[in-house]
Amino acid sequence: MSQGSEHTAVSHHASEDAAQPMDERVDNRSQRPDSDQFRAFMASSWAQPETTTTPRAEVAEFAAARRARLSRLFPGERLVIPAGAPKVRSNDTDYRFRPHSAFAHVTGMGVDHEPEAVLVMEPTEPGHGDDGSDHVATLYFHPMAGRDSDEFYADAKNGEFWVGSRPTLQQLQDEFGLPTQDLSALETAVTKDAGNAALGGLSIRLVRDVDLNMDALVDTSRINTGVDLEQSDSKDATLTEALSELRLVKDEYEIGQLRVAVDATIRGFEDIVSVLPRAIGGERGERVVEGAFFSRARLEGNDLGYDTIAASGNNATVLHWIRNNGSVKPGELILVDAGVEADSLYTADLTRTLPVDGTYTEIQCTIYQAVLDASEAAFEVAVPGNHFRDVHAAAMEVLAHRLEQWGLLPVSAEVSLSESGQHHRRWMPHGTSHHLGLDVHDCAQAKRELYLDAVIEPGMVFTIEPGLYFKEEDLAIPEQYRGIGVRIEDDVLVTEQGNENLSAALPRRPEDVEAWIQGIWNRDENVGPTEGPAA
Ligand code: GLY
Ligand code: MN
Ligand code: MN
Repeated sequence: MSQGSEHTAVSHHASEDAAQPMDERVDNRSQRPDSDQFRAFMASSWAQPETTTTPRAEVAEFAAARRARLSRLFPGERLVIPAGAPKVRSNDTDYRFRPHSAFAHVTGMGVDHEPEAVLVMEPTEPGHGDDGSDHVATLYFHPMAGRDSDEFYADAKNGEFWVGSRPTLQQLQDEFGLPTQDLSALETAVTKDAGNAALGGLSIRLVRDVDLNMDALVDTSRINTGVDLEQSDSKDATLTEALSELRLVKDEYEIGQLRVAVDATIRGFEDIVSVLPRAIGGERGERVVEGAFFSRARLEGNDLGYDTIAASGNNATVLHWIRNNGSVKPGELILVDAGVEADSLYTADLTRTLPVDGTYTEIQCTIYQAVLDASEAAFEVAVPGNHFRDVHAAAMEVLAHRLEQWGLLPVSAEVSLSESGQHHRRWMPHGTSHHLGLDVHDCAQAKRELYLDAVIEPGMVFTIEPGLYFKEEDLAIPEQYRGIGVRIEDDVLVTEQGNENLSAALPRRPEDVEAWIQGIWNRDENVGPTEGPAA
């Protein structure tokens, strides 16, 4: 069944001599009756929705604390943080809605919440805002309409008949501890008293490029009130940057959710091992692997945190191999980089490189061990007080020396590690670490001095993911290395004492990986092949 057949807005680009009047064309699939009798009948005799009170979500108090921190950075300014609108996949079919991560962070809202919603933080007298902050926050969204409304049955985008139950103003207010208002009040809330601060107008800061309607509304207000657009762009960018930096150190709730995501991802990797025998032989075995992981992601979480990389043989040397249309052959390694996104929208990001037939060959093991040693060196330095960039440097130190030992570097490891060398990066061209959270590459808009050049702090969560990628086409290396790609990626929580590998339960050492694979295959033999992931 297609969406939107009854209530679709279509932009009009008809030429003057269009053969068919546009109104007819827009409605050319609609067969909904429109008689008064039909409308009255549709509006009648529905049970009232249940009116149980919605309990306060655990995340609400954490989100309030995040807003208070944000508030302190922008006293006296109105902050506008949109969730974004559904994105078109094709024609009138949208992707599943996922709110923008900055909105999710400061509202605490996760899966499904809430298309076209906007959080407005209105400045108050200093200290007179929410929790003693400088702002009062209100959430604007389109609440569910009553069953006696046309929207109930005639609106394919919002109507309960079409998309299921949606929250009321009261429900979201109760659940997230935020005052809520209908979207119809948003325009005034965003634009009232706005203007050039030098002339006494109120300054707006907007998270841009999330909701085009909000961009247009704020731009129009700025133009109408003589606000400098270039200066405003830079102020908006500072808000986006601040929201990104607000997520550099995770709170207790976030760490809990990252554990949920990592644990589900580990179960997804077990599912992958389970289907490996079935992946072998078919033309698109990588898709069998991808599909098994996706089942787990949908079963336990909201979705994937990013498209799964299921890359067998030489495909493992393609860093963003998401076509996953290759075959899976015994004797090869399969590199799988995958993450479950929890319902809270926090994602894991894990990679394991597995021997398809359960045993690493000697050369595979040699390369794998080098990557593992690089990872362990990185873990050693991923502790409070060191710099974020030290983590990458430690991994590169190991890899450059190993490549030198194998005779692959055209220069010494020392020269390769120098700024003007970097020859080893031919086989490890990506970074070793990135922050992880609501976005797989979290905090990406943070200032350099707070990211790459930052001092590592307890509460930071990032990946450690060294790799070596020897392409079949690489004539600079002996043949035995070619067509092998290895990455090992774990998710790390920095603690007061050092760090915790959140993904430690997923085997890393080659002998442990082999034993783990064999254990799953033995289990499956005893209980029979699995039909899909168990809950
Ligand atoms: N899966 C994306 C990354 O590892 O950064
Ligand atoms: Mn990663
Ligand atoms: Mn990854």
